[in-house]
Amino acid sequence: MATQRRLRLGVNIDHVATIRNARGGRHPDPVRAARLAVQAGADGITAHLREDRRHIADDDIARLVREIDRPLNFEMAATAEMLRIACTHRPHAACLVPERREERTTEGGLDVVRGFATLKPVVAELTQAGIRVSLFVEPDPAALDAAVALSAPVVELHTGAYCHAHLEDPAGARTARELDRIVAAAAHAERIGLECHAGHGLTFDTVGPVAAIVSIAELNIGHFLIGEAIFGGLDSAVRRMRALMDQARSAALGQRSA
Ligand code: PXP
Repeated sequence: MATQRRLRLGVNIDHVATIRNARGGRHPDPVRAARLAVQAGADGITAHLREDRRHIADDDIARLVREIDRPLNFEMAATAEMLRIACTHRPHAACLVPERREERTTEGGLDVVRGFATLKPVVAELTQAGIRVSLFVEPDPAALDAAVALSAPVVELHTGAYCHAHLEDPAGARTARELDRIVAAAAHAERIGLECHAGHGLTFDTVGPVAAIVSIAELNIGHFLIGEAIFGGLDSAVRRMRALMDQARSAALGQRSA
């Protein structure tokens, strides 16, 4: 697979819906946020319809597919209900994620090895419906090998452990180790023919080293951008993230060709 020159940004608008749902009603509208994010440089929109509908609602997914002219990355648990919804709306991509009701966010990647038998028919049915399947996994070569065995074309590497380590000690050994795991997993993904995405917990401070990994094709970023939007607006937050990603990617490619 060729080195990825342009790094795509998928903006996750789940937490616009979190704020809306705090009061019910329609404001703020995640579809309006998606439109703004696209104008500011997002290449696609990501939304996670959770089993408990704590943020994104069914109607948001229908409207995102209908009203936004950029690819929708539909995050979903591998359940019969979500499979039915995905096959009804046929988003550009579906990212299979683990889901537990009690978790605050998606804590950890899918256990692709142990969950192989459950995932197999879900990946097959989504693929048959023309939906590009990605699996949200830890940066672990065994998970990537299992993704290939499942015939999933894409993996998204969970960057949460790296971002947590960075928060505690940006220059620490654990941060470097977690980043190395992502670098190694992205290289492994490229070797075995998987398209590689990454996301979770990324911020202005942590995005650069991940964007510099040239075999990564797409980053999906949500919570931090929506939080930043409170202070400076969504347009400005997305533009700055886009610029930081582009700078890091250009510098990495420059180093490669030097
Ligand atoms: N990618 C996946 C698969 C996710 O589940 C999430 C969180 O919903 C994200 C990316 C975005 O993470 P964050 O909101 O922390 O930027």
